[in-house]
Amino acid sequence: MEQKTIIITGVSKGIGLETVKKFISKDWSVIGLGRNNPEINHPYFKFIPCEISKYASVQQAVASALEYSKGNVDVLLNNAGFGTFGSITDLPIEKWEGMFQVNVHGLMYVTREVVPAMKKNQSGHIINISSIAGLNGIVNGSGYAATKHAVKGISHSLYAELRTDGIKVTAVYPGSVKTNFFDEVEGITANDNMLEPKDVAEAIWYLANTSPNFLPVDFEIRPLNPNTKK
Ligand SMILES: NC(=O)c1ccc[n+]([C@@H]2O[C@H](COP(=O)([O-])OP(=O)(O)OC[C@H]3O[C@@H](n4cnc5c(N)ncnc54)[C@H](OP(=O)(O)O)[C@@H]3O)[C@@H](O)[C@H]2O)c1
Repeated sequence: MEQKTIIITGVSKGIGLETVKKFISKDWSVIGLGRNNPEINHPYFKFIPCEISKYASVQQAVASALEYSKGNVDVLLNNAGFGTFGSITDLPIEKWEGMFQVNVHGLMYVTREVVPAMKKNQSGHIINISSIAGLNGIVNGSGYAATKHAVKGISHSLYAELRTDGIKVTAVYPGSVKTNFFDEVEGITANDNMLEPKDVAEAIWYLANTSPNFLPVDFEIRPLNPNTKK
């Protein structure tokens, strides 16, 4: 059987890094795009430097990825993203814009560059990491929630747009995950009540292996008990 390929954005840590490890362990070829190389020394892992928020960087990186994979991309995982929080009057404008630049525009840049190869193959699966902040509002999180609602809107539009080309699009909405994401979030520390990034990697593995005519549109995952146990 031909080796399958996944492109993952944001692979230096957290959900992206765990997903790299999961897919390598299942003998997939994994291409990681991001600013920092996780230094995984494995024949199935290829790192390509990429600043997701810059279209020229994405164009160059995806071209290299497609050359490396000979145009085959079974799954694109749009994972790179971050959140900065603050009230509507306090959050600096450049923080708001920075989140949109990575979480929304960057996701669109990568998708736009990968879709032609998937269309050519008439197959593929785009998995976009949104958040429960893509389903609900968050106090002091209007900017982050806006970006993650945008991911939902992009995903819902694209699943309808691309299904006739044999391409699946899924949005994943994780609750809190124990990663470095919270390093930048005042008042919340990553803790053991959160989902483990490995759990999210398992969910992505499940999605990537659904049968051909099965299209999961929305996939919401939460910790069973988000609060400290009694
Ligand atoms: N943790 C949670 O509770 C949670 C919940 C729901 C959704 N999410 C979403 O899950 C995704 C992954 O987050 P995480 O929790 O794994 O956080 P993380 O540990 O902070 O990892 C974020 C990843 O995104 C990459 N990234 C950020 N900005 C980038 C840029 N401009 N160009 C390229 N790569 C960039 C980072 O790489 P470098 O900084 O090394 O470049 C890093 O690998 C994000 O989209 C986040 O919004 C997280």
